[in-house]
Amino acid sequence: MASSAQENDRVNDLVQQMTLEEKIGQLTQLGQYIPDTVPIDDRIRQGQVGSILWLSDPAEINRLQHLAVEQSRLHIPLLFGLDVIHGFRTIFPMPLALAASWDPTLVERVQAVAAREARACGINWTFAPMVDIARDSRWGRIIEGAGEDPFLGAAMAKAQVRGFQGAEIGSPGHVLACAKHFAGYGAADGGRDYDSAYVPETLLRNVYLPPFRAALDAGVGTFMSAYMDLNDVPATGNRFLLDRVLRREWGFRGFVVSDANSVADLATHGFARDLQDAAFRALSAGVNMDMASRTYLEHLATSVQKGRIPVAVIDEAVRPILATKIRMELFEHPYIDESQIQSILAAPEHRQLARSAAQRSAVLLRNEGQLLPLKLHDVKSLAVIGPLADSQQDLMSAWAMTGNPKDVITVVEGIRNKVGNRIQVEYAQGVEMSRKYPSMFDVLMGRPQPTPWTEAQSQAELDRAVELAGRSDLVVLVVGELATMSGELASQASLELPGRQVELIKAVAATGKPVALVLVNGRPLDLSQVAERVPAILEVWHPGVEGGNAIADLLVGDAAPGGKLTVSWPRGAGQCPIYYAHNLTHQPDASPMFTSRYWDIPSSPLYPFGFGLSYTTFTYSNVRLDQAEARRGETIHVSVDVENTGERPGDEVVQLYLHQCAGSTSRPVRELKGFARIALAPGEKKVVQFALGPDELSFWSSAENTWVQEAETFDVWVGGDSTAALHTTFKIK
Ligand code: NOJ
Repeated sequence: MASSAQENDRVNDLVQQMTLEEKIGQLTQLGQYIPDTVPIDDRIRQGQVGSILWLSDPAEINRLQHLAVEQSRLHIPLLFGLDVIHGFRTIFPMPLALAASWDPTLVERVQAVAAREARACGINWTFAPMVDIARDSRWGRIIEGAGEDPFLGAAMAKAQVRGFQGAEIGSPGHVLACAKHFAGYGAADGGRDYDSAYVPETLLRNVYLPPFRAALDAGVGTFMSAYMDLNDVPATGNRFLLDRVLRREWGFRGFVVSDANSVADLATHGFARDLQDAAFRALSAGVNMDMASRTYLEHLATSVQKGRIPVAVIDEAVRPILATKIRMELFEHPYIDESQIQSILAAPEHRQLARSAAQRSAVLLRNEGQLLPLKLHDVKSLAVIGPLADSQQDLMSAWAMTGNPKDVITVVEGIRNKVGNRIQVEYAQGVEMSRKYPSMFDVLMGRPQPTPWTEAQSQAELDRAVELAGRSDLVVLVVGELATMSGELASQASLELPGRQVELIKAVAATGKPVALVLVNGRPLDLSQVAERVPAILEVWHPGVEGGNAIADLLVGDAAPGGKLTVSWPRGAGQCPIYYAHNLTHQPDASPMFTSRYWDIPSSPLYPFGFGLSYTTFTYSNVRLDQAEARRGETIHVSVDVENTGERPGDEVVQLYLHQCAGSTSRPVRELKGFARIALAPGEKKVVQFALGPDELSFWSSAENTWVQEAETFDVWVGGDSTAALHTTFKIK
């Protein structure tokens, strides 16, 4: 790897040789799917393209790279960027599910495999991780992040960056990562995708920015600016975000890419006067590369000629892009060896990891009478029912476009693999599901829309499913959402189970047969009508290619659920946004008549943040501190004993929550400040220790307009979810 001085020399040398057009070319990202009057091959030869997006065919990637390296004047290689979100060919659980594992080591390994497969096919840059905090389940993109909490979000951001990029940018078999969408995108009004976000600085600093900062600390090479207005300034033209925070405060040295078309959007927002102004404002705010809109390509040069943009500003924008290409060693190794691809994509260890990731991401939400793990000795017939029980496509997510549905083990298949011929496994779909209008992803992939069932057919299918349940010993009911019902452009106003699924659940439950409900979905859904009707609910999300096998492992107890929710699960859409780290205000707990909250439903979520059951039980005791008083800047250590008091082995996610009792501002009732997923054999006890130092004890004070660590009293709770009761206090002097 070149030293930074050598890298600098090479960058300067290139910049000196470049024409203005070639410089602007490096600031331009284009793709074959974007309508253009000039063929992409010509643009590459002329040095008008720095990066290509949305291309995953290795032969085509090699062909375009040959054009850039051999036929452009300065032989500068291209960056190939793609959304490798939770796997390339081997599709892993979706990001919100991965976060529910509370296992950063696992998440790092998953993204390292995703990187390895993508890199083998010529992708050298992923538009991931998505680290937007999301507190509103109506927002479809909640699926892409780690959930509502900045502390967990930061841990997952770091893990993903390390997984994608390896130890450093340019690590062999890895890709460049991109922290997106900078910033505040998850706070879209009403959970409507792309809608404006109004985020006061206190929330921005304390909640929305920490995962981005963590990505930067882990060495992330690029950031993506978001689509929406943040406090009335488009994120793609936002100097506060891109210049003041990212570059000046945080010292970011990599480059920023816009979101697709978001540079041109600056005119749509009513922010830029026209496209020329849009190019000027995005560049001067700090966006180095224009994704897809060609606004830089077509309009920057005029601004330079008119003297509105000094050439030095263009040079500064180009430099980190060239430096990144040098650091990635693309000049030395621009091409991929296509003969290696098959063995890498088919590596058995990738599928093993996918299975274990799906097991570790699952969250057991309910288990009355210990229905799970299923006791199969006397079972002769098992019904697997539901619109997602035999679906391959829906065990992946909308983003899994480079995955192959044929690779996916469905739930029915997984259960059959597990029980063999011992038990008769029968399947009925029961109900159908569809979106009101097709998803962008279905259109892009050319997937035909299913023909809707007729009334008579719907009734017959429902009846058949209920009849099957009635003559089976046991029912596994697989319900939730299609993969295309969450993700980008997939917000919804209602969180109810789509189609006639509620009816199906009620009818199957009414047979009196034991029902294990398996939830396949991208976001928390409204379970208010069904949660109490079934004894067991296992949340498996969109679990990826090994989903069916992993679910079968979990159902029979060959694996034990140990995941925990990373979002507060609302009782219904009316509670959104909902999050545990809220403040207390006037009369929070007064009598119903005076309550400051809803009168029709409780203000609490259906399942709290951090919640998840196990096949065993855990007892927490003996929470203790190494010192009950410390000075600012010192670290306090909190220890707790956790014991497996049940009869089965299991994993517990031990969580520590903190509350500052008074201060320059009101502080949230609790904030996660430590966690550890541990495995315990029956009867085993472990001591778990957490460190609370200045990082954990400081916050951005809107009263002081800066970061503070205050000399106050703090509550600490340790336990298995955000309602943990085991408590102690300490003081900072
Ligand atoms: C738009 C999405 O918002 C972003 O997440 C994605 O990376 C780009 N399109 C490129 O696909």
